[in-house]
Order: sequence, then C-alpha cells, then structure tokens
Amino acid sequence: MDEVEIKEGEVKLLMPSDCLNSKYDSAVFYNKDKTFKRDLFTLAFSILKPKTTADCMCGTGVIGCRFYKEYPSKFFFVDLNPSALKYAEKNAESNGLSDFSIEKADVNVFLSTHKLDCVVLDPFGSPSHFIDSAFRSFRKKGFLFISSTDAANLCGAKPKACLRHYDAFPLDNFFCHETGLRILLGYVARRGADFDFSIKPLLSFKHAHYFAVLVEVEKSALKANDCLKKIGFAEADGKKIGKMWLDDFNDESFINLMISKALERGMEKHAEFLELLRGEIGMPLFYYNIHEIASKTGKGGVKKFNSFIDLIKEKGFKAVRTHFNVLGLKTNAPEEKLIELMK
Ligand SMILES: C[S@@+](CC[C@H](N)C(=O)[O-])C[C@H]1O[C@@H](n2cnc3c(N)ncnc32)[C@H](O)[C@@H]1O
Repeated sequence: MDEVEIKEGEVKLLMPSDCLNSKYDSAVFYNKDKTFKRDLFTLAFSILKPKTTADCMCGTGVIGCRFYKEYPSKFFFVDLNPSALKYAEKNAESNGLSDFSIEKADVNVFLSTHKLDCVVLDPFGSPSHFIDSAFRSFRKKGFLFISSTDAANLCGAKPKACLRHYDAFPLDNFFCHETGLRILLGYVARRGADFDFSIKPLLSFKHAHYFAVLVEVEKSALKANDCLKKIGFAEADGKKIGKMWLDDFNDESFINLMISKALERGMEKHAEFLELLRGEIGMPLFYYNIHEIASKTGKGGVKKFNSFIDLIKEKGFKAVRTHFNVLGLKTNAPEEKLIELMK
C-alpha cells in the first residue's frame, strides 16, 4: 500500500496515500477538512490537561497525537478497524507518545469498561449512540469532546431521524445550524442527567459541515437537575423546535483563555473565529438574515454589515455577527426595528 506522511499541527502522520483522496473508500479514515476543529480541540486540551484520555474512533490517531504534544499523559486509541490502529500505533510511536494503549474494540464496549478523565468521540455521522457509554466512563469529573457530521438530521433535512436519534424536533430554516447545535447539546445534557452528571459547555460551534462540542461533566444529581432546567422548546415559523439547550453554548472565561493561547501561537484565524463565539454569549436564541431584513424594507439595498450593527447598538440594542452564517445577525432588537433601521 502506498503511504504518505503529512504534517498537521505539531505532529507528523503516516497514512495510506488514498486517505487524502477518497475519504470513505480508503483503508483508514482521515479528513483534512476537519483540521480547523482539531486545531481548536487541541488548543482546548492544552488548557484542560486531563490525565487519561481515550481517542475514540481514532482513525490515524491524529487527535490523540496532537493532544499528547500539548500535555504528555495516558492515551487510549480505540477503533474497530485494524488498519486504522496499525497507523495509530505507528503515529503514536513516531510522535514520541510513551504511555499509550492500542485498543481494537467497539467504543461502547471500551467506554463501558474503562474509567477516564477525557473522552473524544469522532464517529461517522451521529454521536448519539456513544454518549451513554462516555458518561459510564467518567469518574467524578471529566471532559467530553464530540464531533458530529450529522447535519442532515440535526438541521431538519431528516426530521424523523432527528426525533429517533435526539428525541427532538429540528427545523430546516435559516438558523437551522444553531438549532442543530442546541439539539445536540440538549441531548448530551439529558443523557448525562440519566447518569446523574451535569454538563457545562466550554466550547461549541459549527464549522464547514460538522458540529463540535466540548463539555465539562460533573457527577452531581443537584447540578444535573439545574442543567435540565436549561433544556426546552422554542417556536419558529409556527413550529415547535427542540428539546434543545437554551443556555449559552460557550463559556466566556474558557473562550478568553483560548483566544489568548491562539494569539500567543499566531493563530489569528482561530482567534477571530473564537471572538465570534464570544460575541454570541448572552445573546438571544437564533439570528436574522440581513438580506431578508433588507428585502422587507421594500426598497432593496443592504447596509454594510458592520455599520448596520453599529446603528443597532446606537439605538441601545445588542447586536453581533454569528459564527453560524456570514449573513446572520444576532440581536435583541425586534424585527420591525431592524427593518426601520435598514431603510
Ligand atoms: C470519522 S472517523 C475518525 C477520524 C479520526 N478521529 C480523525 O480525526 O481523523 C471514524 C472512525 O470510527 C471507527 N469506528 C466506527 N464505528 C466504531 C465503533 N463502534 N467502535 C470503534 N470504532 C468505530 C471507524 O473505523 C473510523 O476509523
């Protein structure tokens, strides 16, 4: 098999050459498009420094190897695919990992039989089938990193699948990505509560075609009860959406730490993205499409986004861009006010 070595972040990774061309037909799965998410997850890991981490559904082992460079601790690489594990082992060795274990296992079995401080779930599609097992693996406290390429279900293209996997009604509209992220977080919180765990979202976002979530978990029935109070429904376009997480999906102090780290390392694009996430904290649910606002003025013409935001703020409202959509505006100003200001 032809092999290729690539560099991602601080690690070098060996993988079959076809990994770079045909993601789903290759012997081992590696998706270059998710590098941005791995950069942010790695930055987050460097702040958290957990002692034992399972890189579940590890593929080439890229996540565990990148995390190790930030904080050399104990790593488990778990996958069902023996070819993936062969490369994960080679990559762990060549990147200097000393305390690691290669586990050919179903993630649900592995997580249900090990105790961990940090779990990374990176499945094909929905993570919903693995979340219970992650909670089984935590002691008193822990960190759960989740990736989901399940946008079709979470964002409303397949509402029945969303109901089956997340017990929630999505809505396929302009702000479907925020609904999707909130449905995913709400589901994690509800599954955690079943095990008497609370969750605190530290970092959550949508990028390209995937969602990424990092939550701190803590075993506490009381805190789990409080968490459940943050879950509920919303209404839009005359439809009920949820159940979903209704509170902030990023933690301000954590995002501040990440921004400082990103800037220290010259990661300007990442810092800019994190600033967008920070701006959304404390803002109302969902966002307007500024083009739609402009079309409702009956005059055509869209004001420059940043000047429009300044104008809204001058009138005493809050307004920010959202990371979910370049045309998305988050504000507490009512729609009629926005139409008036856009004129
Ligand atoms: C999306 S890929 C992981 C990619 C990798 N984490 C990365 O960042 O490049 C999903 C991986 O999960 C593995 N997998 C799928 N179902 C699994 C299961 N139930 N238990 C363990 N591994 C599984 C597949 O073999 C595949 O390597």
